Amino acid sequence: MYKITLKKELTKDIKLFGVEAPHITHNAKAGNFIVVMPDEKGERIPLTIYDWDREKGIVYMVFQEVGLSTVKLGRLNEGGSIYSISGPFGRHFHVENYGTAAVIGGGVGVPAVFPIARALKQAGNKVNSIIGFRQKDMIILGEEMKSASDSLVTATNDGSYGVKGFVTDALKQMIESGDRPDIVVAVGPVIMMKAVSDLTKNYGIKTIVSLNALMMDATGMCGGCRVNIGGTTKFSCVDGPDFDGHLVDFDGLMSRLTSFKEHETEAMHKCRLDTEEKNG
Ligand code: FAD
Ligand code: FES
Repeated sequence: MYKITLKKELTKDIKLFGVEAPHITHNAKAGNFIVVMPDEKGERIPLTIYDWDREKGIVYMVFQEVGLSTVKLGRLNEGGSIYSISGPFGRHFHVENYGTAAVIGGGVGVPAVFPIARALKQAGNKVNSIIGFRQKDMIILGEEMKSASDSLVTATNDGSYGVKGFVTDALKQMIESGDRPDIVVAVGPVIMMKAVSDLTKNYGIKTIVSLNALMMDATGMCGGCRVNIGGTTKFSCVDGPDFDGHLVDFDGLMSRLTSFKEHETEAMHKCRLDTEEKNG
């Protein structure tokens, strides 16, 4: 069991947890992920490592409640504990001095790019970040991204904060205004990563995305997280989750992500009924 030392509500359905897990912080690097089980009957939830305190042995994660397991996780409280945390998994992000880096996070992809932006800045890159959200009340980690970047643009789809539009609009403007990045890193909804990759392909800019393929064992054994990269099958959990965005078959990934939708909706519905029954 792993003690929850911090629980913070970033928005109505996005939470930040700090959890005592020295076996994770010992080896954690930007781009790694962990697999969390809220209780012994729960599903395994892959979550990116948002931050870590090696001295105190505390790992930080940010998650959005989208279904049964993440809702269960969100119900746990500070002082309580998580049944299991394993990892770190995945190849960590390759950090070097590329020159100028554009780091792009969409929604709950922002916690995943935060440690990458920080590591790139520490390695001497000029880091221009863009974070995007649907609307103002969904913005998370703005201050943290600002501290990890040389410049930060916040975009909202409806213009309720920052610049109006998608992260791709802000990126196009950045490129065309002469601040052309040597590398682009983008993490967020698959559709966003696809749009960023399509844009940067036209400009010939190296682009790394982090794929949130469905995962089961996260050890390369089950094949559940397979993705098509440049015509070759790769396992996202061990070969990724970072891949060259120009080689990813995003349409195949999107279709695999929806393959269990009916089962997930049914499980969520049952969970709501159980809660209503318990609360009378
Ligand atoms: P489910 O009932 O399983 O699904 C509910 C809805 O969410 C469905 O519509 C389903 O299609 C969608 N969904 C399920 N799994 C995924 C997925 N892997 N990617 C996108 N949509 C999904 N989420 C965070 O909030 N924060 C993170 O830092 C984070 N990091 C991740 C890192 C990796 C390597 C991977 C593979 C996923 C990551 N995710 C992250 C996504 C997270 O694991 C899923 O949202 C979670 O497993 C959903 O479980 P659930 O039972 O609550 O929902
Ligand atoms: Fe099973 Fe990747 S999750 S092979």
